[in-house]
Order: sequence, then C-alpha cells, then structure tokens
Amino acid sequence: MSPHLIECIHLSKQYIRNKQTVIGLEDINLQINQNELVLLKGRSGAGKSTLLNLMSGLIKPTQGRVMIGSQCISEMPDSELSHILATRIGIIFQSFNLLPTFTVYENIEVALVPVIKRNSEVKEKIMSLLEQFDLSDKALVLPSELSVGQQQKAAIIRTLIKEPTILFADEPTGSVDDETAREILEQLMNLKREKGVTLVVATHGNILEKSADKVFLIENGRLK
Ligand SMILES: Nc1ncnc2c1ncn2[C@@H]1O[C@H](COP(=O)(O)OP(=O)(O)OP(=O)(O)O)[C@@H](O)[C@H]1O
Ligand SMILES: [Mg+2]
Repeated sequence: MSPHLIECIHLSKQYIRNKQTVIGLEDINLQINQNELVLLKGRSGAGKSTLLNLMSGLIKPTQGRVMIGSQCISEMPDSELSHILATRIGIIFQSFNLLPTFTVYENIEVALVPVIKRNSEVKEKIMSLLEQFDLSDKALVLPSELSVGQQQKAAIIRTLIKEPTILFADEPTGSVDDETAREILEQLMNLKREKGVTLVVATHGNILEKSADKVFLIENGRLK
C-alpha cells in the first residue's frame, strides 16, 4: 500500500475534440500526504482542472492511475466512487453548478442527501456555515439573486457541509474581491488546521503560496 494519501502514477489524459486529440495531461507522477496543502499552478489551459478532475474521480485517465489510500479511484466502479464522493471527497468547482430553481439553503442541503443526517442537526450546521460566510440573510433566495461572489461562497458551503477529509478546490477565489478571497482562504486553512483536511487547490494566481506544503507547476500538461 502506498504510504501517501493521494498518488498519481503515469497519469495522462487526452481529450478528443472534432476528431483531433487534445493533450490534457501527460505522464504526471506526484504524491500528496494527509493534511498537506498542495497548490497546482500554471497558466490557463495548462491542465490544472484536468488534474483535479482526475484526482477526484470525475473523469477517467487515458493512461495511468490515481490512488487514494489503497483504493484505485480511476478504475473504481461508479457506485463505489459515488459513495466516496458523497462522504470523503469534497470538490469546489471552477464554475459553481448551483441548481437554479433551488434556494441557497436547498442547494446546500441537497449535498447531504446521500449522507442522511438528522434534520435539526442539518439545519444548525447549514445556518452556522451561512453565518461564517456572511450569507445568513440569503438562505431562502435563489442563486440568480446572488452576486457572483456570493454564489461562489454558497457553492463552497455546499461542499463543506459534507465535512470531507480531502478537499479539491478549482480557483476557489476566482470570482471574488480580495477581502472575500481572504475570508474564503481563511476558512479553508481552518479546515486544514482544525480538522486535518487535505487541501488540493488549483490556481493561476498567487493565493496560499506562503502556506503551501507543496507547489506543483504544470506547463502544457506536464509537471515542471
Ligand atoms: N472536455 C474537454 N474537451 C476537450 N479538451 C479539453 C476539455 N477539457 C479541457 N480540455 C483541454 O485540455 C487542456 C487543459 O485544460 P484545463 O481545463 O485542465 O486547463 P486549466 O489549467 O484548468 O485552465 P484554466 O486556468 O483556464 O482553468 C486545454 O488545452 C483544454 O482546451
Ligand atoms: Mg481550470
């Protein structure tokens, strides 16, 4: 068994677009340990989202493997993978994917459906997170009535409500002002410090650089 929490082994991904092969990633080998903060850096189109999506099992590699602990998630049946995604792994997407006809509260609550918790407990947790992110007064509105930054925060809460032990975040501050970005990063760092969460963050900016345990620079689909 690998001593690492996450390991990418000869990981490659090619996309097919208009019958042409587009290189997403090429021969990525990396290890991430428990409770580390890892940054994936690189220019737009470098392959950061591709790598996050492979590590979280959302897409399958063309070659190679992704191990999480002793489990090979890149070869796992969907039924097993969806259990891990519902319980251990949290993903903060670059686009927020909030459900437009659900209120902010319902968008967060829906993340817990596969987990099933007591109702009063759920309400308390959701309201407490909304308060931490300064969104208490927006619980009952639709995503379309939120600013883009507020949508990003709601999407982050939807991920945190599951209390994941591994958190993949794709440009988690891409759509907010500096002050809101600071608040979001502070919350993520709290999870690392207080809950032992492992954080893997993709960004083309300079966020979290001083706090990172490892920085992987990706250029044209390859690790530099
Ligand atoms: N679904 C897809 N189909 C075809 N090509 C894709 C697909 N997703 C990504 N790509 C290509 O793979 C490469 C890496 O894309 P990726 O989204 O991983 O970059 P990124 O580093 O996250 O960029 P950004 O900083 O703009 O989010 C790019 O050339 C992109 O065009
Ligand atoms: Mg991206």
